[in-house]
Amino acid sequence: MDRLEIKRANDMHVHLRQDDMLAQVLPHTIAQCAHALVMPNITPAVLTADDLVAYRQSILALLPDGSTFKPLMTFKVAPTTSPAEISKLKAQGAVAGKLYPEGVTTNSEGGVTDFKALYPVYEAMQEAGLVLCLHGEMPGVFSLDRESKFLAVLRDIASRFADLRIVLEHATTAEAIDCVSELPANVACTLTVHHLYLTLDDVIGDRLNPHAFCKPVAKRPEDRDALVAAALSGNGKFFLGSDSAPHTVANKECACGAAGVYTAPVLMPALLELFEKHCKLELLEAFTSGFAAKFYGLPEHKETIVLVQKSWTVPEQYGDDKSGFSVKPFLAGKTLRWQVG
Ligand code: NCD
Ligand code: ZN
Repeated sequence: MDRLEIKRANDMHVHLRQDDMLAQVLPHTIAQCAHALVMPNITPAVLTADDLVAYRQSILALLPDGSTFKPLMTFKVAPTTSPAEISKLKAQGAVAGKLYPEGVTTNSEGGVTDFKALYPVYEAMQEAGLVLCLHGEMPGVFSLDRESKFLAVLRDIASRFADLRIVLEHATTAEAIDCVSELPANVACTLTVHHLYLTLDDVIGDRLNPHAFCKPVAKRPEDRDALVAAALSGNGKFFLGSDSAPHTVANKECACGAAGVYTAPVLMPALLELFEKHCKLELLEAFTSGFAAKFYGLPEHKETIVLVQKSWTVPEQYGDDKSGFSVKPFLAGKTLRWQVG
């Protein structure tokens, strides 16, 4: 087989950023995806219905004529979020609210510390049919244990709000996979491309690699293996959310490097290679589009992309240094077997 036609992906967790960076990174996502769930951690954050409308407009303004790509918009579930704002957000087409615990990742200042204080907001989201997306890390805990410690919060919310759809974002541990598997069908989990490839050794095992640094950090080999097994399992609770998170090379290669891995340019080629290696190609389309469509209740799309077996070397960087918006993609300099045709 040297050609694969597959439904366009639904990438259920992507950072498209703003302004010049948005213009730089958007083409990679729209080249491969039908829908993408756009994260709200821009500056200032998407908190209100007005913010959401303005951010969506800035994305739509950059779509080429005839593009069928649909950004699915989110808002931040913050300590200040009110149940009244939830109905306005829903009316303006919000799909999900994203909860960032305080200080655990990029632009999560002013995040949540008291998860129970937001019960009225979860209640309003449940009623409105909005999905609650959780950055599952407990603030203030040793970094490798943050996800594990957060699972009690996930269990608590899931047990109290049985009709609220909840997504544990970018799981990194075998424990999280087991937890989501055991919870009822209203709880699902996104998996990123980079966490299916990386362990902590790729970040700090040899020389420091800032381009493999993200939150939550990649964990042990057995955790990575559990994520791969979940992706290949055919279980509809586990679907793609790339967490493609571009930062400029300058903001990554410095004394205080930003967290985030920019995977959008290699999204489908890297996943195809992984599924092919494990002889599970027949499950790729469900993982990259079908399972998310079902969980989120998205319209079934028919648009496809073609991937061709033709090796290519992933560019060292996109964008030029002068503009200050150069970004280094995941797997930069590596040769991949498949490319988007
Ligand atoms: C993301 C970013 O850069 O916005 N960073 C990351 O390491 N994943 C935020 C996030 O999803 O945690
Ligand atoms: Zn993210």
